Amino acid sequence: MDRKAEAILSRAAQYARSVHEGDSSGHDWPHIDRVVRMTRRLAASEGADPFVCELAALLHDVADEKLNASKESGMDLVKNWLNGERIDTEARDHVLDIIATLSFGTGTGPMRTREGSVVRDADRLDAIGAIGIARTFAYAGWKGHPLHEPQLPPRETMTKEQYRNGRSTAINHFQEKLLRLRDLLETESARTIAAERHRFMEGYLEQFHKEWNGEC
Ligand code: ADP
Ligand code: NI
Repeated sequence: MDRKAEAILSRAAQYARSVHEGDSSGHDWPHIDRVVRMTRRLAASEGADPFVCELAALLHDVADEKLNASKESGMDLVKNWLNGERIDTEARDHVLDIIATLSFGTGTGPMRTREGSVVRDADRLDAIGAIGIARTFAYAGWKGHPLHEPQLPPRETMTKEQYRNGRSTAINHFQEKLLRLRDLLETESARTIAAERHRFMEGYLEQFHKEWNGEC
């Protein structure tokens, strides 16, 4: 990567840090930093453009709905920041497309480019394993959700209506999202890393329920 690209990434890191510092909704700066480092690793093994991947990873949560009045105003922040830098239009549009898909996407359709898959997989890997578990409980605490309510029916047996009106718990979120992520990854490198993290979560849940029920 040339000096100009490195300088842009370093300014993007400063900007992202200023946006995310002190956040307690799961979008703190260390999350961004971990996603950036994982992105570099995946980009290298997947042969993706390292500059586009890293810039998108740095800015991926700036537009997050939870941190902005609306998705559109969040995207405007990213656009304005990118327009203040001398980045070629193709790279800029690519980064914007990745971030818009990450923020607006339903999360199921495939990403349009290899760079997009790398960044989304890196973000998803940070939502599973030991870190993913920690973020889930931190988020539940932030929202005031309980840890667990054993009387709640399992997520997969609820209708949409029941689910919307029901209570979300930290333990629910495993079925809701964490245990599904492994099979949604799009790069081989991320799938390899996810295997161990997935097993760890299954073991964690088993132990959690045993302790909850006083079985160990
Ligand atoms: P990101 O896009 O950075 O992965 P999200 O905005 O979806 O993250 O969520 C931030 C973190 O909070 C993630 O680790 C996610 O799993 C967790 N989280 C999101 N919704 C819930 C919920 N209802 N209960 C518990 N944890 C949640
Ligand atoms: Ni994220």
